[in-house]
Amino acid sequence: MKSEYNVQLVNKRVLGDTCAVLTFSCPEIAAEGRPGQFINLSCSKFLKRPFGIMCTDKVSGTFSIGVRKVGKGTEQILTANEGDQFTVLGPLGNGFDFDGVGKLILVGGGTGIFPIFFAAEYASELGIPVTVVNGYRSKADAFLYEDFSKITENFMVTTDSGDLGIKGNVMACLSELDKAITDGATCFVVGPGIMMQKVSEWAMANGLSCYVSLEQRMACGIGACLVCVCKIKAEQEGKEFVHKRCCKDGPVFRAEEVIW
Ligand SMILES: Cc1cc2nc3c(=O)[nH]c(=O)nc-3n(C[C@H](O)[C@H](O)[C@H](O)COP(=O)(O)OP(=O)(O)OC[C@H]3O[C@@H](n4cnc5c(N)ncnc54)[C@H](O)[C@@H]3O)c2cc1C
Ligand code: FES
Repeated sequence: MKSEYNVQLVNKRVLGDTCAVLTFSCPEIAAEGRPGQFINLSCSKFLKRPFGIMCTDKVSGTFSIGVRKVGKGTEQILTANEGDQFTVLGPLGNGFDFDGVGKLILVGGGTGIFPIFFAAEYASELGIPVTVVNGYRSKADAFLYEDFSKITENFMVTTDSGDLGIKGNVMACLSELDKAITDGATCFVVGPGIMMQKVSEWAMANGLSCYVSLEQRMACGIGACLVCVCKIKAEQEGKEFVHKRCCKDGPVFRAEEVIW
């Protein structure tokens, strides 16, 4: 049974017009949260909203999430001020497995860049060489640019507008990566579905292990309501796919088992 905590917003870092990093005091999630896991956060609406954990700080007993304004729930969350109280359920989901990973290529897009940050920080703490490729809309949208730059020298960005990094999407960068970076690497991807699909195809074509974090609409977040099911290739003969719960069986899945 996952625990629910009453938490306080202790820091709010505004990133442009539509995003912010929110830091909450919660020693339990700070201690247990792993990259790829998420939390469910209360808002003015009935259902809590899911957000990937962006980082934890065991010393201060805090964890952070990055939030982008989408609808009413995120709009209200982003109006919160330091000192405000929330209810949080978590940490939820399976997270990324770093066991046996010799080197890592992290690919982020959209709000997937927030949980990718946690994976980058964690990998560098473990001493795993890490390359990060983030896809942004434009330079103005390039949140956490400085933060990633501090973690790894191998930080590359693409922008749709072309005003920062390579013009185009993440594929424009991945297809040019040096063999010294790609050979034997594992790839973790978080972002829009089409981006994860394309990166998965690229990774599989190049013989890399690849893991994606699926994003489905969620309600309970703990495997009880089946709102979040996704199609995963069946291992059983005669069956094309099985339904798995994104919140409990995932959100991280092996790329080759996902039916896009
Ligand atoms: C595992 C996971 C991790 C996520 N991590 C982040 C993150 O780090 N940062 C971030 O900004 N956003 C993240 N999201 C998306 C975020 O949960 C939605 O943007 C948010 O729930 C929208 O709520 P709303 O009330 O503003 O929008 P509305 O559209 O009003 O929401 C209506 C309902 O749909 C659900 N919903 C809407 N969009 C999504 C979505 N994309 N994914 C899941 N449920 C959705 C809401 O939870 C709510 O129940 C994540 C989603 C999942 C599933
Ligand atoms: S959100 Fe209820 S089962 Fe996944």
